[in-house]
Amino acid sequence: MSAVGRQKRVSPAAITALKGERPIVCLTAYTTPIARLLDPHCDLLLVGDSLGMVLYGMESTIGVTTEMMIGHGKAVMRAATHACVIVDLPFGAYQESREQAFRTAARIMMETGCDGVKLEGGEEMAETVAFLVKRGIPVFGHVGLMPQQVSATGGYRSLGRTEDESDKIRRDAAAIGQAGAFAMVIEGTVEPLAREITANVAVPTIGIGASPACDGQVLVCDDMLGLFNDFKPRFVKHFASLAPLVSQAAEDYAREVRGRTFPADEHTFKLKR
Ligand code: KIV
Repeated sequence: MSAVGRQKRVSPAAITALKGERPIVCLTAYTTPIARLLDPHCDLLLVGDSLGMVLYGMESTIGVTTEMMIGHGKAVMRAATHACVIVDLPFGAYQESREQAFRTAARIMMETGCDGVKLEGGEEMAETVAFLVKRGIPVFGHVGLMPQQVSATGGYRSLGRTEDESDKIRRDAAAIGQAGAFAMVIEGTVEPLAREITANVAVPTIGIGASPACDGQVLVCDDMLGLFNDFKPRFVKHFASLAPLVSQAAEDYAREVRGRTFPADEHTFKLKR
C-alpha cells in the first residue's frame, strides 16, 4: 500500500501543538472493539499498563510484561485511524539503562506500529527520555503519582501537599519537559501545583486526578464507563454505568437458558423444505 491515501493519525508533534489551543482528550484503550469506539472522539489513546489491573486483575502494574503491552498495542492499532496511539513501557523494561529503554521502546514501536511510548519518572529518567527522543522515539512523560513506584513511595494518594513533595514534582516535570517529551501525564497531584507546572512547562500536561488546570485529561476507560462499581476514586467520573447493565444481561441470559426460552426460533438454523 502506498503512503498516499493512507489515513493519518494525529502525530505526537500535533499533540504538542495543541498546548494553549484547546483541551486534549485522552482515554486508555486495550482492545480492538473499545479502541474502535473511542478513536473518533480522542486525540490520544493510551495503551496503559493499567491493563494489568483492569483486564488481568493484578494487584498493581508491576507484573505487566513487554509482551502483554505489545499484544494490546497491536489490538488497539488494528482499530485506531484517528487518535495518536501511545503504549506504556512496563516496569523493569526501561529503568536499567537508556540502552535498555531504547531496545524496549523500539521493539514496541516496530511490533505494534504505535506512535510513541510512555514512561514513568522525573529527573532520574530525563537522560533516558533525551536519548530516546534524539533517536526518533516520541516520549510521553509521566510525573506526580507513579503507579510503578507505589510500593516504594507509599501507596496511592494525592501528592504535592508538602513543600518537599511539591519541589520534587516541579523538578521532575521541568526535567522531562526539557528532555524533549512531547507531552506529560500528571497523576494524583493537588490543583495549585498542577496549575503551576502546566504554566511553566512548554509541552501539554495531561491530568488524571490533577485538576482541570491541566492542558488535557486522561481517564482509564473502564473507570469512566462505570465497569467497576465497588470503588470510585474522587478523580473518576462515571460517564456511563455499565456494571449493572452487564450483570442484568448475564442474569437475563442465565434465566432464559435455564428456562429454555433462549435460543428461540429466530436464533435457530432450520432446514429449508
Ligand atoms: O497505565 C495507565 O493507564 C496510565 C494512565 C492512567 C495515565 O498510566
